[in-house]
Amino acid sequence: MANLRSEIERRRTFAIISHPDAGKTTLTEKFLLYGGAIQNAGSVKGKQSDKHAVSDWMELEKQRGISITSSVLQFEYNGFCINLLDTPGHQDFSEDTYRTLMAADSAVMVIDAAKGIEPQTRKLFKVCAMRDIPIFTFINKLDREARDPFDLLDELEKEFGIGTYPMNWPIGCGQSFKGVYDRDKKRILAFDDAHRGRERIHGIDVDITDTARLDELIGERRREELCEQVELLDGACFDFDLDKVRHGKLSPVFFGSALNNFGIEPFLEHFLQMTTSPLPRVASGEYIDPFDEGFSAFVFKIQANMNKAHRDRIAFMRICSGKFERGKEYYHVQGEKSFRLSQPQQMMAAEREVIEEAYAGDIIGVFDPGVFSIGDTVCEKGRKTKFEGIPVFAPEHFSMVEQVDSMKRKQFAKGMNQIAQEGAIQIFFEPNSGLERVIVGVVGVLQFEVLEYRIKNEYGCDLRRSPLPYQQIRWIEGDTDPKTLKLSHDTKWVQDFRGKNLLIFTSEWAIRWVMEDNPDLKLSEFSKNEEKED
Ligand code: G4P
Repeated sequence: MANLRSEIERRRTFAIISHPDAGKTTLTEKFLLYGGAIQNAGSVKGKQSDKHAVSDWMELEKQRGISITSSVLQFEYNGFCINLLDTPGHQDFSEDTYRTLMAADSAVMVIDAAKGIEPQTRKLFKVCAMRDIPIFTFINKLDREARDPFDLLDELEKEFGIGTYPMNWPIGCGQSFKGVYDRDKKRILAFDDAHRGRERIHGIDVDITDTARLDELIGERRREELCEQVELLDGACFDFDLDKVRHGKLSPVFFGSALNNFGIEPFLEHFLQMTTSPLPRVASGEYIDPFDEGFSAFVFKIQANMNKAHRDRIAFMRICSGKFERGKEYYHVQGEKSFRLSQPQQMMAAEREVIEEAYAGDIIGVFDPGVFSIGDTVCEKGRKTKFEGIPVFAPEHFSMVEQVDSMKRKQFAKGMNQIAQEGAIQIFFEPNSGLERVIVGVVGVLQFEVLEYRIKNEYGCDLRRSPLPYQQIRWIEGDTDPKTLKLSHDTKWVQDFRGKNLLIFTSEWAIRWVMEDNPDLKLSEFSKNEEKED
């Protein structure tokens, strides 16, 4: 029991979110280096897969068999056991990216200091904010020309509606970047670009009132500027409030340079102190305590194997309570069946390993013979825990998909349904139309290619796909009858596979027009976590 408690207490499970190129891979790599999990920079795999061209993606996926290269990394740091969840970007961006955030207890948001908030940061932030999880901001690339730090904070506060608390403050940037001032310890961490990230940096203890020493270190002009800025920060910024941090209302902000190893250690130390061990999760209306001895987990991602020879899928589960033991019998709540999870795996740094045990906070991947759906619960036998489902996220790209050969109607319908059930695509129907014509919505365009490839290879059907101009989707709330709505040609009424009514729009503007024309209409950006209909 003592062992269970201490194992769970030392776990931290977080996701890194960013817009491509902000430095997520570099920062991840540095975390692993500091944790001693890898010896060389350049061994984190996510990067190549992020950067490959669309055309060689299939080949790559086929070679890899099952792609779990950059899904979860586990490493140790100062006695903590850290589970780091990767959120794929570039062409790999998909609904999975959002779902991964459901498995995290906090998020680290990496921002390029020259660019500020970018579109993908915005989308991922929204999903984190939905659950009020703590968000830590790392403003990266201070060794390059950067925007004014006050501007960057202002942007975060205005756009995201949260408070910010700079834990440290940059002294210059680009060529004249001198380091950061640690507000808590009131000392300077000086930047010496000569080592270029090859060693750890130790701060230089200087009191902010030690004018002579500061002048020596950063120069008189910078010292004066720093003192003014620190005064402004202390007077005008939010006060530090750990409770607000833990509820996602105040984001601690760190400045640094991942490439140069600068600011990583202080970040990790503060971050690990401020985040909590795995938090209770809601199941059937009550909170499940992570320290509860009984094992429970939910499926947040299903990765289909692109290799035709192996139809298996891998289901990723986040453990919410207790301890998982290999070979033990567990219960799949939705399937109402007991079973043993075969070949449970975990990512240790960049290697995939079969594991014997895992604890609340950990992520495990298990082979799925086709029984799991996104959001399913697996738990100790005799328990009937059912975790809240995972919301359906709004797709942003739409196509009309039709089967080419009318003789294959059954295979087409089966394939489309199965792939949709896995959560790789969302399918919609025009009311009163047949099943041979489906509107497919995806979060990332690569999913269309995956769909075409899989329908052909796994179900033997050819598709005709015509892109549609819609970009936004909203679920209609309440019992509004869509037939009574005033809709313009920019808006289309469709239904999902459960028969729920939705509207798809060509632009944000179109949403506003519909709202103006139909004042009683209530729309929602996410589909609620409702029980799946079997
Ligand atoms: P991502 O995963 O968020 O997409 O970003 P990634 O870490 O791949 O970083 C994107 C680019 O930014 C890389 O350069 C990386 O070296 C650079 N970078 C990351 N952190 C810093 C930093 O603190 N300062 C500076 N100056 N650059 C940084 P690249 O040229 O695209 O790749 P590479 O040739 O260096 O591998």
